Parts: sequence; C-alpha cells; structure tokens
Amino acid sequence: MTDLLTVQNLKVSYPTRTGVIEAVRGVSFTLGRERLGIVGESGSGKSQTGRAIMGLTPKHGIVSADRLDFNGIDLLTASAKRRRQLRGKRIAMVLQDPKYSLDPVMSIGRQICETLRTHEKVGKSEARDRALAMLEAVQIRDPKRVFDLYPHEVSGGMGQRAMIAMMLIADPELLIADEPTSALDVTVQLDVLRIMDRLVSERGMGLIFVSHDLRLVSSFCDRVIVMYAGKVVEELKASELKNARHPYTQGLLNCMPQIGESRHPLPVLDRKPEWTA
Ligand SMILES: Nc1ncnc2c1ncn2[C@@H]1O[C@H](COP(=O)(O)OP(=O)(O)O)[C@@H](O)[C@H]1O
Ligand SMILES: [Mg+2]
Repeated sequence: MTDLLTVQNLKVSYPTRTGVIEAVRGVSFTLGRERLGIVGESGSGKSQTGRAIMGLTPKHGIVSADRLDFNGIDLLTASAKRRRQLRGKRIAMVLQDPKYSLDPVMSIGRQICETLRTHEKVGKSEARDRALAMLEAVQIRDPKRVFDLYPHEVSGGMGQRAMIAMMLIADPELLIADEPTSALDVTVQLDVLRIMDRLVSERGMGLIFVSHDLRLVSSFCDRVIVMYAGKVVEELKASELKNARHPYTQGLLNCMPQIGESRHPLPVLDRKPEWTA
C-alpha cells in the first residue's frame, strides 16, 4: 500500500509565561487509503496532532517534525499559500461541533457551494447540483429544503452531516475527523460512521478518525494508535485490540462497560508517571 501520509517525530509545543506546554511529544505513524483511529483521553494531544497535519496550529504554537509528508508534498516547508490550497481540497477536517464550523449567517447550501467554488472552477448551477448530490450522499432526506436552511434551523445531527458534506464536496484524499460523532445520538453516530466508511471504500480516501471512544474506534477502524500525554503508547490492528500490551490501553479496555455485567466498584483507570517519560 502506498502511503498517503507520513508523520515522523511530530512535536507541537506552546511557550507560556510559566513554561512550555508540550501538547504533542514525538508522534509517528503512516497512513494509507485506510481508516486509522487515534484514541486517548481528553488532553492527550489527539486534536493537536490533527491540526498540525492540517496546518491549523494556532500562531503561538511551535510545530516540528523529522518528516510530515502528504503524497510527496513536504508539509513542513510548504508555503502558507500552498497549505491553504491543500486544505479543503485535498486534506479536510471535520470538527467535533458543527456549530463552530458552519457559518451561522449563510445558508447551508451556499456554504457548500462556496467551498466547492474556492477549489474548483465550476459554474453556479453545477455547484448547486453537486451540493445537492452531496447532501443526498450524507443521507439528508430532503436536500432541496435543507439547502436553503441556516445552521440554527437544523438539528445537531443534520448540522454534522452538512458539515461532512461541505468537507467532502471537493473530494479530499485525506479526511481528519476529530470526534465527529461525540455530540450526536447513538443512532445518528452510526449513520455518520457509515457515510465515512463508504467514502473510504468507494473513493479510496484515507481517514484519520479521532475519538476517546475505544470501542467505537476498534469496531470502525483498521488500525488504532493509542495516545497518552502527547505520545503514542501503542499501535495495533483494530482486530487485535484485545491483545493490547500497554497497561494504559488495557486500562481503557477494562473501563468499557459490558452488557449484562455488574461492576461494583467501577474500575478506575490507573495512570503511572513512567508512561509520560
Ligand atoms: N492553544 C493552546 N495553547 C496551549 N496549550 C494548548 C493549546 N491547545 C491545546 N493545548 C494543550 O495541548 C494538550 C493536548 O490538547 P488536545 O490535542 O486538544 O487534546 P485531545 O484532543 O486529545 O483532547 C492539552 O494539554 C492542551 O491543554
Ligand atoms: Mg480533542
């Protein structure tokens, strides 16, 4: 399999008055046209890893890596202009909460059309047709009606799907989905996962699926990397999660509730200082 993305020794840090916050501390992985899950508790550096790949690290953050390569393009030396061109067109990111990603004063349809037209030379009516087709592809039942709605007029699940439509309209090769389903009902979660799954198998897209939900990730992804305190502590095939060796991964697995099991007291996730070394 040819690699779509190579990340080697990625570091992201934030200098502050009281010292340097090391958000990502030497993360390495490769991604082909497959589904890679990144799991880890809140604050473990998952989002910062995704943002660094997107080129969306806040200004005061410092990004370094031995390699950060997307399809032969060195992202570390690429100009700001080049990165803007890649963003949205070839690499896209879906964020946790559509409320912060959709423009509240622009109709959903127009936002999707404008995203398409920044990346491709297409006329207004073709853009509209493709936006409607994309809304349908993310299983919005009445795309013509939803096209004219504003973000506040749709439910969270529909907003999330509109957001995915907007991210996918330009047909990216790599999609980073950062907890895309955490704010949704379980049934809508599965819908959204199925949509992304289809895109990986039908379009050969690479997907990085970020989540704190180990069960969800292991049922949905091909491979999983487990992050703890800014580092990768373990990398596994999703099917081999049960054989996880790192105590943190084992701890995460033990904390997952099982149907029909009564647990008193509830297990507590252990954290050892040497894991952060
Ligand atoms: N803009 C920032 N300035 C300083 N520290 C930050 C900033 N953004 C994130 N961090 C820190 O980076 C660490 C990793 O954050 P993040 O990647 O968002 O975690 P996760 O997505 O795994 O929950 C956290 O400790 C967080 O406090
Ligand atoms: Mg996060």
